[in-house]
Amino acid sequence: MYYLKCIECGKEYPKTEVLYTCECGGLLDVIYDYSQIDIKKEDFEGIALSVWKYAKLLPVDRKPITIQEGGTPLYKCDRLAEKVGVRELYVKHEGMNPTGSFKDRGMTVGVSKALELGMKTIACASTGNTSAALSIYGAKAAVPAVVLLPEGKVALGKVAQALMHGAKVLSIRGNFDDALELVRELCDEEKIYLLNSINPYRLEGQKTIGFEIADQLNFQMPDRLVLPVGNAGNITAIHKGFKEFNHLGLTDKVPKMMGIQTEGSCPIVKAVREGKTDITPEKNPDTIATAIRIGNPVNARKALIAISESNGGAESVTDDELVEAQIDLAQLEGIGVEPASATSVAGLKKLVETGVIGANESVVCVTTGHLLKDPEEVISVAPKPIVIDATMEAIRKVLY
Ligand code: F0G
Repeated sequence: MYYLKCIECGKEYPKTEVLYTCECGGLLDVIYDYSQIDIKKEDFEGIALSVWKYAKLLPVDRKPITIQEGGTPLYKCDRLAEKVGVRELYVKHEGMNPTGSFKDRGMTVGVSKALELGMKTIACASTGNTSAALSIYGAKAAVPAVVLLPEGKVALGKVAQALMHGAKVLSIRGNFDDALELVRELCDEEKIYLLNSINPYRLEGQKTIGFEIADQLNFQMPDRLVLPVGNAGNITAIHKGFKEFNHLGLTDKVPKMMGIQTEGSCPIVKAVREGKTDITPEKNPDTIATAIRIGNPVNARKALIAISESNGGAESVTDDELVEAQIDLAQLEGIGVEPASATSVAGLKKLVETGVIGANESVVCVTTGHLLKDPEEVISVAPKPIVIDATMEAIRKVLY
């Protein structure tokens, strides 16, 4: 019912092949025969949200390895909407997944696929969240996991997860792009299953963010979807989810996809601004949003297609702007996110200020990871605790 197809040359491959890119070097997509997939809105009624609620549109033929991923809240954020100046704003908080990021959606599919293909070890390069998810799903599946991290540039909570759940954690003296290049070589040579987002099956899991948003909004789609972009897999995946529901007649439109990066690390934004169909890699990307500190996003071609096909766009924000948005999310809406996630709201604010997004539009921002992922950054941007004597008098003195 599904197979792999190159987005560049169109070459097709059967689903039984262990393959990440086409022989021409192009990225692969998973193609379904939609005429064989019978889905109606009513099928979803009364069933709790989860990645596997949408199993008919997922490429797994075995019992999945799952720890109940997906089903994240979609918060209506009126105070934040007023502050940024849009009519209707929702935040899809992916930090509420089991490991605290959206990566779980891709890993439940990817690790299930690894078992289906008979792979004995799994691996990834990561800015942190992918490694946490890989380690946990590896543990659940009883498959050894290897992760390559850029030394000194991964938030503490994420390293803690990868270590605690038992992955072999290798800290590379280099950045994420170096780590990804190495792990691709490692997987090819050692027959290890690669679970970065270059793996087309992983993105299939992540497209369920799009399905859930439609489900949660009663199939009334927003005008825009705004999200952080790093390796550029998630924007591609969510767009595919939106397109599939639209193609199946469940929704009447596909939201415009708006990708946000930081000024220190924004190859996709530059390509969109310059009207290019591919990026120029950045050698030394830098930002406090370590999750998206990526100069050579591997899914750039897919992401640029998603942006142009949906009539969307891209914007960059400064580290100061994303911290301001992180605090707004926390204090206006009670949504605790890690720095990369806050770029979505910072980007939205900028896009409204510059007139790209109109005040009358409805918007969904995706917040990709939980605040507790990066406690060091939180401590550095939040007010310090006030140390006082253990007396009522001292308490009153600081309160009034
Ligand atoms: N937000 C967070 C919190 C992330 O961890 C990532 C990616 C992104 C956004 C960007 O998503 O790569 O699909 O464009 N983190 C990867 C990792 C690279 O290794 O955890 P993308």
